[in-house]
Amino acid sequence: IHNLARATNDVVIVGGGLAGLFCALKLAPRPVTLISAAPLGQGASSAWAQGGIAAAVAEGDTPEAHAADTIEVGGGIVDEAIALGIAREAAPRIHDLLAYGVPFDRDLEGRLAVGREAAHSARRIVHVRGDGAGAAIIAALSDAVRRTPSIRLLEGFVAEALLTEDGAVTGLQLREAGNFAAKPVTIAARAVVLATGGIGHLYAVTTNPHEASGSGLAIAARAGAVIADPEFVQFHPTAIMVGRDPAPLATEALRGEGATLINGHGERFMTARHPLAELAPRDIVARGVFAEIAAGRGAFLDARQAVGARFAEKFPTVHASCIAAGLDPATQAIPIAPAAHYHMGGIAVDRRGRSSIDGLWAGGEVSSTGAHGANRLASNSLLEAVVYAARIADDIAGREMPSPARLADAPATSRGGEPDAAAVKRLRTMMSAHVGVIRDGDGLAEAVRSFAALEREADNITLRNMATTALLVAAAAWSRRESRGAHFRIDHPSDVSALRQRTMTTLAAMREV
Ligand code: SIN
Repeated sequence: IHNLARATNDVVIVGGGLAGLFCALKLAPRPVTLISAAPLGQGASSAWAQGGIAAAVAEGDTPEAHAADTIEVGGGIVDEAIALGIAREAAPRIHDLLAYGVPFDRDLEGRLAVGREAAHSARRIVHVRGDGAGAAIIAALSDAVRRTPSIRLLEGFVAEALLTEDGAVTGLQLREAGNFAAKPVTIAARAVVLATGGIGHLYAVTTNPHEASGSGLAIAARAGAVIADPEFVQFHPTAIMVGRDPAPLATEALRGEGATLINGHGERFMTARHPLAELAPRDIVARGVFAEIAAGRGAFLDARQAVGARFAEKFPTVHASCIAAGLDPATQAIPIAPAAHYHMGGIAVDRRGRSSIDGLWAGGEVSSTGAHGANRLASNSLLEAVVYAARIADDIAGREMPSPARLADAPATSRGGEPDAAAVKRLRTMMSAHVGVIRDGDGLAEAVRSFAALEREADNITLRNMATTALLVAAAAWSRRESRGAHFRIDHPSDVSALRQRTMTTLAAMREV
C-alpha cells in the first residue's frame, strides 16, 4: 500500500466482483491496480448469483426479443437503444467468459444449455452447475486475474472518498477494510473505475453480502457525480426466511421449473394477480408475496411437485441453504419473503461507462446505464456488468490520460472506527419499513429527515457513506409521486406519464428535498 501511495497509478479499479475483474482482464496487459474489500472471490454479490446470464444464444431466440422483454418489464423508462446494445453484445461476452474458463452447462448435443426465468419469452439463461453461475464465474475470473502479471491486486481495502480537482478525478482515499483503527491512505490515479456493487445491506432483509452498503455510490455522489434513478430498488420475491442475515436466495429458476408460490393455507396467490402467475415480472411477484405476509397468511415457495427429489442435483446451492436450516425442500415448502436484491439506480453513465466526472467510470450494479429502467429483468445484471466492463476497458484504452497532480494526503474528513451498531440497525430498519416494497409520502419524509440528519452528524465515515446513499434513495423515492416498476407508492398507486422519465439528480439536489 505504501508503494502504491507513492506511485502515480494509471488505472485504479475498485471492486472485486464481476465488473471489476472483467474490466481488469480486458485492460491487460495495461497495468491496473484492482482494489477489493474482501479477498478475491468473497464479498461480491456476483459470486452469489444463482440464475446466470441472460443471452439470446438458443436457436430461434434473438437479441431483439431479449431487448423487447427487458423493455416490457422496465416500467416504461428503459433506454431502448441501451437494452438492445447489451442484448447484442451478450454472445461475444459469453465467449470471452468461456475463454477465461467459465464452465457453462451444456445440453446433450454440447450446445450451451439455457434455462427459463420470469418474464423472459424464451429460455435464455446460461448457467453453471444448476444454480452456481455466480460462484463459478467469479472463481474462474479470480484465477485469471491472479495469473495476469499486469494486474496489481490490493485485497482488504475500501475506497472511502474520491479525490477530484477542477471536476476531474485525481485519486482515492482508501482504508484497510475492517481495521477500524487504521489511518486512511491517499493514492493518485489517472482513471478510476468504480465497480463497488449495490446497496442491499442498507436494508434489514437482503440477499446481498455485507459489503453491498452503497459506499461507491456515496463517494461518487459526494464528489458531485450525477446519480440516476436511485429510487428504483429491486426486491427479490423469494429470499429464504430462516433467520439469516443476509437471507439466502431461492433462485427464480425454481419458478422457471414450475415451483409455485403458496400462502400458509396452501393457496396459490399469484394466479389471481397476473396472467403469468409465478412468472410475472419480479416487482409484481414481490408485491404479491409482501401482501400475503402483511395479511398474516405467510408465503412459501413450493417445489415439492415440480422439482421434488431432483432438488439437490438441480439446485445444489438452494438445497444446501435449506438443509442447513433444517428444511428439506424436496418434501417441505420453503418460507420466503421479499428482500432487497438489486439497485437499478446508481452513478449515471453513458454508453461507454463514463460518469459525469472526468476520469471516473462506473460499471456493474453501482452504475445506472438505463438498461433496467424501473425493474430489472432476471439475469440481466451479470450481462450488463460484462458488457460495460468491456466497453469501459475499450474506452480507457483509447484515451489519452492526463498526469495527475501529486496529491497531498487528503485531510480525513471523518473518523474511521467501527460504525455504531445501533445506528446501522436503525438505518436498515427504516429503509425496510419506509423505503421498501411498499412506500408512502409520510414514511418517506420521515426517512429523508432521519438520513439527512445522520449524514450531517455522523463523524464515522462508514456510517456517513451509508447515510448518504440511504438519503439519495429515500429522497428520490419521495420526489417520484407515482408508482412505476419496483417503486410502489400506496399514496400514488398509478403511473403518471408526465413522470415517465429517468431521474437524473445530484446529492446536492437531494439534500434540498
Ligand atoms: C435469481 O436467480 O433469481 C436471481 C437472478 C437475478 O437476480 O437476475
